[in-house]
Amino acid sequence: MAFLGIDLGTSGLRALLTDDEGAPVASAERHYEVSHLHSGWSEQDPADWIAALDAAVEELKARPEWPGLRGIGVAGHMHGATLLDDRDRVIRPCILWNDTRSFAEAATLDATPRVRDLSGNIVFPGFTAPKLEWLRTHEPEAFARTARVLLPAAYLNWYLTGDHVADMSDSAGTSWLDVGGRDWSELLLSAGHMRRDQMPRLVEGCDAAGTLRAELATRWGVGTVTVAGGAGDNAAAACGTGVLREGDGFVSLGTSGVLLAARDGYHPDPDSALHTFCHAVPGQWYQMGVMLSCTDSLNWLARISGKRPSELTAPLGECLKAPGRVRFLPYLSGERTPHNDAAIRGAFTGIGAETGLDDLTRAVLEGVSFGLRDSAEALRGAGADLRHLLAIGGGSASRYWLRLIATVLNVPLHLPAAGEFGAALGAARLGRLAATKEAPADVMTAPETGEVIEPVADLVAAFDEAYHRFGPAYHGVKAIQ
Ligand code: XUL
Repeated sequence: MAFLGIDLGTSGLRALLTDDEGAPVASAERHYEVSHLHSGWSEQDPADWIAALDAAVEELKARPEWPGLRGIGVAGHMHGATLLDDRDRVIRPCILWNDTRSFAEAATLDATPRVRDLSGNIVFPGFTAPKLEWLRTHEPEAFARTARVLLPAAYLNWYLTGDHVADMSDSAGTSWLDVGGRDWSELLLSAGHMRRDQMPRLVEGCDAAGTLRAELATRWGVGTVTVAGGAGDNAAAACGTGVLREGDGFVSLGTSGVLLAARDGYHPDPDSALHTFCHAVPGQWYQMGVMLSCTDSLNWLARISGKRPSELTAPLGECLKAPGRVRFLPYLSGERTPHNDAAIRGAFTGIGAETGLDDLTRAVLEGVSFGLRDSAEALRGAGADLRHLLAIGGGSASRYWLRLIATVLNVPLHLPAAGEFGAALGAARLGRLAATKEAPADVMTAPETGEVIEPVADLVAAFDEAYHRFGPAYHGVKAIQ
């Protein structure tokens, strides 16, 4: 047996083939464009996703395991609106998660009574419901022709199975789902001028969405293949890292920073700008804080100083220093958790004539770490248990930064040993569960720990004190911008 995990990302699609033990055997990747027609707009042609998938499959077909393919799972970038007409033709390009044109519609929906209660979240401008509200006003013809709205992963599910099916974890980011009740909400749908018949059928991420269409099975040279419900990309990454139960969590140091905790129950806390979504397995949820400029902050400093990020962090060595005098507020593209403020921008404070590039680098690393602590505080406030975290993503290459984050959060960080543990592996695991009906906990195991980075005990109090001065700085900076 073999399983295929498809990670439909913003810049490209990665397909990962695993053997019957779930061990990765091969992967193929294809890239595509994002179009930005106007400032704040971000769109993609769903035909590019299909072309990328077909090309990736052509490459993997050469593998000896391929004919044994039994299960497929798709993980997708969340919140995107793919509109289909009554003959399943795509009406216009998909409006993506990072498109902010519908900020006014989001604010209106967010202020509508019961919307936060039922959806469990702030209606962020990137979510799906405000996009449809924007279309209703600005593209009424497209809105009127919309027979179905599919998220990107659900669009691939449709291509694979011929059926309109979405999973709970991805659907939780639409603002149309009752996230506690795991069903479309009539109230939320009507607040967004949508109907249940325009929504895909809902399944759990690890359950079957359908079977691979006969025409594709023939072209791909495979037999009967089960397609899973799939997942939004963060839920899939949680499946790939074994983050399923209360006490499991990860910090992902990518362009944006994500602090994610699995939850055994539904504990929404929208006022803290936490995201509360269904997990891709039944009866579980997850919560995450999202900071928009994580490694992006260091990349920015690298760009303007003409260095590589690793050249900036190397002179700091590995031994953590006490908090510096210079402060950095990491709001280069606004902030989601905890401020939900698209307009705020970053700042340096405490710069003196003696300040050098190393001081600015330390300040950037500290400012991002304090931003992650904001998410940790929000998660702890919602009752999440953060006793240890896996550290994943490009930023985890810097030991200094890892020690700093462990100390600021006061939690040990577990670094996975080399290998595969991302959204594509999570998606392959979902495909396997849908095909074999195994228990999720037996398949979604944590990666082997390569190293544990402990907080630096002598510096926990000093960073705690510095963190408590960081919070009020947001309001100071906001007042002068
Ligand atoms: C989650 C979010 C992103 C996208 C794109 O709320 O907006 O993680 O899924 O990766």
